[in-house]
Amino acid sequence: MSDYIVEMKHITKRFPGIVANDDVSIGIKKGEIFALLGENGAGKSTLMSMLGGMYEPDEGEIYIRGEKVTISSPNHAAKLNIGMVHQHFKLVSDYTITENIILGVEPIRKFAGLFPYVDIRNANRKIEELSKSFGLEVDPTKKIADLNVSMQQRVEILKVLYREADILIFDEPTAVLTPQEIEFLLEIIKGLRDGGKTIILITHKLDEIKKVADRCAVLNKGKLVDVLDVKTTSVNRMAQLMVGREVSFEAEKAPAEFKEEVLKVEHLTVKNEDGFEVVKDVSFTIRGGEIFAIAGVADNGQVEIADAIAGLTKVSGGTIFLGGKDITNETIRNRTEAGISYIPEDRHSFGLFLDFDLATNLALKQYYREPYSSKGILNKEEFEQSGSRLIDKYDIRSGQGVKTQVRSMSGGNQQKAIIAREIELQSPLMIFVQPTRGVDIGAIENIHKMIIEERDRGKAILLISLELDEIMNVADTIGVIYNGQLQKIASRESLTTNEVGEYMMGAKHE
Ligand SMILES: Nc1ncnc2c1ncn2[C@@H]1O[C@H](COP(=O)(O)OP(=O)(O)OP(=O)(O)O)[C@@H](O)[C@H]1O
Ligand SMILES: [Mg+2]
Repeated sequence: MSDYIVEMKHITKRFPGIVANDDVSIGIKKGEIFALLGENGAGKSTLMSMLGGMYEPDEGEIYIRGEKVTISSPNHAAKLNIGMVHQHFKLVSDYTITENIILGVEPIRKFAGLFPYVDIRNANRKIEELSKSFGLEVDPTKKIADLNVSMQQRVEILKVLYREADILIFDEPTAVLTPQEIEFLLEIIKGLRDGGKTIILITHKLDEIKKVADRCAVLNKGKLVDVLDVKTTSVNRMAQLMVGREVSFEAEKAPAEFKEEVLKVEHLTVKNEDGFEVVKDVSFTIRGGEIFAIAGVADNGQVEIADAIAGLTKVSGGTIFLGGKDITNETIRNRTEAGISYIPEDRHSFGLFLDFDLATNLALKQYYREPYSSKGILNKEEFEQSGSRLIDKYDIRSGQGVKTQVRSMSGGNQQKAIIAREIELQSPLMIFVQPTRGVDIGAIENIHKMIIEERDRGKAILLISLELDEIMNVADTIGVIYNGQLQKIASRESLTTNEVGEYMMGAKHE
């Protein structure tokens, strides 16, 4: 028998217009953490989906524990003790944690030896034990709808462990987590490995690979570039192999030239559904030519500020002025017209129509205007022409150009599409919420460049990010939020990373 618990030999997978995996061969050793690195659309999720039983390869062979297999379904993968934690969770929100975990493998008992029923109580107990033994504590009776993202991810992991997976695939598990949650998850992953499990980890964050992975495969446009020993390879080398050029981790930026005031927020207060104040008396202004970044730990009110300005959430106190005009009670469309672009945090719920094609999605905010339509009639040709232009300009990669259904695009390329559409609106105010989440390092560099370019064109920019590095890199002015209140507003130059960190934790305030 070979050294490898998983072997993929000469795997090719095609989708309409694209070769997602092109003759890829890799071997994964039992008990290692094997990372997969590559640009958005390089084919990482596709390759792993073939182990998870979502797709079958067009060519090539898969061996598990030395035996040749055809993995025909996720259930079949589970029988081979392979489990996948997906990039986009697949949980039923009305069901409890237990119901989600046992879905498809319900423990059936017979009442009076005759009538079958699902033994929920027993399942609850078993899941509680399981969750404790792996350090992933949950309350099994809670509904998915009431859980935050990190808890939902725990459920996905438990689901895989419940099915006794010993080959675990994580597809960008840290993209949706806060820095503290990431630390926790990486420890869990190391623990799983030390317990003898084999881990495959897809991530865009090189420092995570450096921290936990043993080996790392690099994919580029569907092809395997190299398999690296992580200990002896520098982060810069990984970046270079992946993008095919040198990557700069620091954004280049001329000094800001501030113009007239574009946005003014005065005494803004926002309440959540339970009537609890999540934004408390927040005031700030952003001028043209200024990048104003809000730094903070997740869930401290920063997203609610962005939503209130864009009109997605109701304001319970205070006023919002755009270009001197009070827009506090305007509709979303009126705000867009008045000059707000918005890149939302949750691109699947708010950013895109997944079942529409790329051309339509790129025109989504302008379709009712010239030249996209005239006298109420849509001009299809214009959709396609300007769509193609944006695909080139923003390097959006997809199988069939403007005709690609957005659902089939890779996560990072969906994000690039939203950014392209919103920048093209040329609004005086641009709001970016977590613009580089799930985006590869080459594309991060480009997005930062674009944000700075828009600033230099005189736009006012509100940047909300959980990545302190990103904020220190791009911002001109920083507002630090803690518990719904701005603790400090100051120029980027006057603050150190440490200080910002202290304000973020509420350890320091004005
Ligand atoms: N079901 C599908 N139908 C058509 N094309 C697809 C499908 N799934 C993936 N693709 C295409 O295959 C290519 C590889 O996509 P994949 O999702 O594997 O990339 P990825 O490396 O995981 O990228 P990301 O880092 O952005 O998640 C992309 O061009 C994508 O558009
Ligand atoms: Mg992916």
